[in-house]
Amino acid sequence: MTIAIASDHAGFELKVKIKTYLEQTGLSVEDFGTFKADSTDYPDYGVLAARAVANKKADRGILVCGTGIGMSIVANKIKGIRAALCTSKETAELSRRHNDANVLTLGGRILDHHVALEMVEIWLKTPFEGDRHLRRVNKIHELTGC
Ligand code: RB5
Repeated sequence: MTIAIASDHAGFELKVKIKTYLEQTGLSVEDFGTFKADSTDYPDYGVLAARAVANKKADRGILVCGTGIGMSIVANKIKGIRAALCTSKETAELSRRHNDANVLTLGGRILDHHVALEMVEIWLKTPFEGDRHLRRVNKIHELTGC
């Protein structure tokens, strides 16, 4: 599985921890930046990772900014992306079970980083339940014709 990751300066520290965790787990990681903690603009990096998921160059995406909000707004502009801003292990799990989220967005400034890594682990291993949830996800994609 290949994971596309990206952050701005506010998510940089957590993104580095996530990258290390993913690599230790044996997953392939494509890092779309930013590569330093200097102030920058989250759309510039989030869009690259989200497009990689939409174009199937990556299986999933994990985007980090200060709150996770900006990254979720950006990612959800890209056709085929279901980005979930998650704030707990429970929301991370349900974003997979019910929403088949293919992008996880996290707030590096609001989450305990240890909990964030647990959320990533849960999010990656939790399957989509399909069934009635698939009908709902399909209705979302009908909105943008994909
Ligand atoms: C950067 O200061 C901050 O606004 C950004 O990381 C993010 O939280 C936006 O949603």
